[in-house]
Amino acid sequence: MKATVLSLSALALLAGCASSPSAEQQAAMAADARKAAGTLIQQLGGELKAALAEKGPDGAIGVCKLRAPRIAADVSRQSGFTVKRVSPKNRNPAGVPDAWETQAQATLETRLAAGEKPETLETWQVVRTATGKQFRYAKALPVQPVCLTCHGDPAKMADGVKARLAADYPLDKATGYAPGMLRGIVSVKRDL
Ligand code: HEC
Repeated sequence: MKATVLSLSALALLAGCASSPSAEQQAAMAADARKAAGTLIQQLGGELKAALAEKGPDGAIGVCKLRAPRIAADVSRQSGFTVKRVSPKNRNPAGVPDAWETQAQATLETRLAAGEKPETLETWQVVRTATGKQFRYAKALPVQPVCLTCHGDPAKMADGVKARLAADYPLDKATGYAPGMLRGIVSVKRDL
C-alpha cells in the first residue's frame, strides 16, 4: 500500500515536470517577448527623436517622462506581457530592477564584455513564483551617442538639461554613462 502511494506521488511529480514549457515553447515565448521589447524600443525611440528635434533636449525630457510609461503600458496591453524598462541606476523612480532583472543585466554585461554584440543581447528563463510559474525575458539597452545628451557625464551635459533633470528627478542616478555600456534592460514577463 505504501509503495502505491509513493509511486503515485512520484507520478504527480513527473506530471508537474512535464507541464513545464519545452525548449521550443520557451523559444516561441521569447520570440513574442522580443517583439514586444522591440515595439517599445522603436516607439519610444521615434518619439524621442521627434521631441529632440522639435523641443530640444530639455523639452524632450518632459516627453520622455510622460510618454515612456504610457508606451510601456500600451505595449503591455497589446502584447499580453508586462513590459517595462529598468536600470540599476534608475531615473524613473519606478525603474528599480527586481532580483531577476538585476541578475539578468549582470549576465548580459558579462556577455557584452566577452564580445557579444550589444544589439542582440537577450536572455530568458522560466522561474517559479509564490503562485506558480512565470516566463521572464530581458533585452539589453546599449548606450548610444544620442543617449549621452541626458545620461552622459554631467560635466558635459547642457545646463538646461541638468536643471530640468534636477527639478523632475531629484533622486536621478542615470548619468555618467559612456557608449558601449548597458543603460538598462527592457524587462518582459508573463505568468504561465
Ligand atoms: C531627452 C533626454 C533623454 C535622452 C536623449 C535619453 N533618455 Fe533615457 N530617460 C530620460 C528620462 C527623462 C527618463 C525617465 C522617464 C521614464 O523612462 O519614465 C529616462 C529613462 C530611461 C530608462 C528607464 C530606466 C530609468 O533609468 O529610469 C532607460 C533604460 C533609458 N532611459 C535608456 C535610454 C537610452 C538607451 C537612451 C539612448 C538611446 C536614452 N535613454 C536617451 C531621458 C532621456
